[in-house]
Amino acid sequence: MMIYIRRCKKVHYNVRVRGITIFILLIAIFVKIVRLIRCTVNLNEYVPICTGFKDVNIEARLKISSLDILPIDVTSEESLPNHGQFRIQRIIHQTWKNRTIPGSFQPWMRSFWKNHPDWEYHFWTDEASKKIIQETHSYLLPYFGNYSKPIFRADAIRYVLLYEFGGVYADIDMKSLRPLDPFIRKYSCFIGQEPHEHPIIQSNFDGLACNAFMACKKGHPFMKQLIESLPSFYHFPNMLAATGPHFVTVNYRNYIAANPNIDYMGEYGVYLTPPEYFFPSLDSVKFKIFHNVCRNVNTLSKLQQWACDSLKRRGYDRTPYAFSFTQHMYYHTYVRIDETKPVDILELIPAVILG
Ligand SMILES: *[C@@H]1O[C@H](CO)[C@@H](O)[C@H](O)[C@H]1NC(C)=O
Ligand SMILES: *[C@@H]1O[C@H](CO)[C@@H](O)[C@H](O)[C@H]1NC(C)=O
Repeated sequence: MMIYIRRCKKVHYNVRVRGITIFILLIAIFVKIVRLIRCTVNLNEYVPICTGFKDVNIEARLKISSLDILPIDVTSEESLPNHGQFRIQRIIHQTWKNRTIPGSFQPWMRSFWKNHPDWEYHFWTDEASKKIIQETHSYLLPYFGNYSKPIFRADAIRYVLLYEFGGVYADIDMKSLRPLDPFIRKYSCFIGQEPHEHPIIQSNFDGLACNAFMACKKGHPFMKQLIESLPSFYHFPNMLAATGPHFVTVNYRNYIAANPNIDYMGEYGVYLTPPEYFFPSLDSVKFKIFHNVCRNVNTLSKLQQWACDSLKRRGYDRTPYAFSFTQHMYYHTYVRIDETKPVDILELIPAVILG
C-alpha cells in the first residue's frame, strides 16, 4: 500500500515536471520567434540591433551609450601627412557578381582608378570571392554558401579581402572625389560613418559604421574579429544585422570595449571617421521616413531632436565638402536593376587585377 501511494505521488511529480518543462520550452520558442521578428524588417528600414542570441540588449546599450552625446558637425579637415610611410596597402578592392559592369557604376568605379593611378586596382567576381574564401577561410564556406541572398556574400567577402590583402574597399556605388593617400599615411584602419541623421532618426542611436567604404592594413585584428564573428551572426535573417552595417557597428563597439587602451590612430586602432569625409550626402530613399518622424519633434529623444534640427539647418540635399574624399551614391544595388549599356571590367579599367 505504502509503495503504491509513493509511486502514485512520483507519477504526479513527473507529470508536473514535464508540464513545467513544456511550458518553459514554449516560452523559449515564443521569445525566439519574437526576437526573429524584431530582427526582420524590410530592406530600407534599420532593424533593431541584436547580436547573436546571447546579447539581446545590445540595441538598448547602443542607445544608452549615445543618447546624451550630441554629434558634432565637422566643417574642415583634420591635419593629414603629405609625406611619410603608408600604413595601409595601396590597393582598391571592388566586387561585383561578374565582369560585366552595369552603366551607372562605370564613372564611379573609374573615379577610384583615376584618383589613384599608382595604386593597384583589384576586382573580385562572385567566383573569385568564393575561391579566396576557400583558400583562406574555408570554415566560412558552409555559411557563405547558405546565405539567402548575394548581398550577404558581398558583405562577408570585403572583410576577408581587407584582412588578407589590406587596402581600401569601396562599394561600386561609391564615388572617389580625391586621392586617399594622406589618409592611409595617418591611419591603419578606418571605417566610413553614415550621416548621423540616418541611424538617429530611424533607430535613435548614433555612430553607424558603414561597410560600403572601409580600409585596413593587411592582417588587422579588427578585420579578423569581423571575419570570426560571421558564424555567430549568421542566424540573423536581415542583412544589416547578419553581415552589414549593424554587424560592423556592434563589432566595432565590442572591439573598443574589449581594448580600451588601443589608440584609434595606432597600429591596432580603428577610426570611425566623421560622415563628412566619406558619406557627405543623405540617402533620398529615407527622406519620407525623416519627414514623418520629424513631424512630432516633442515626442522624440534629445538625440533625435538634434537630428531633425540638423535636417532643417543643413537641408536634405547635401553636396560634398571640399575635403570630402568620397561620396556614396546610394544606388541600392540589391533592389534596383540597371538598364544602361554594360561593359567588361577590362575595358573600363585596363589596369585591373582580376582576383
Ligand atoms: C553577368 O551577369 C549579367 C546579368 O546577371 C549577364 O547578363 C551577363 O551576361 C553576365 N556576364 C558574364 C561575363 O557572365
Ligand atoms: C547549410 O545548409 C545545409 C542544407 O540546408 C545544412 O545542412 C547546413 O547545416 C547549413 N550550414 C550551416 C552552417 O548552417
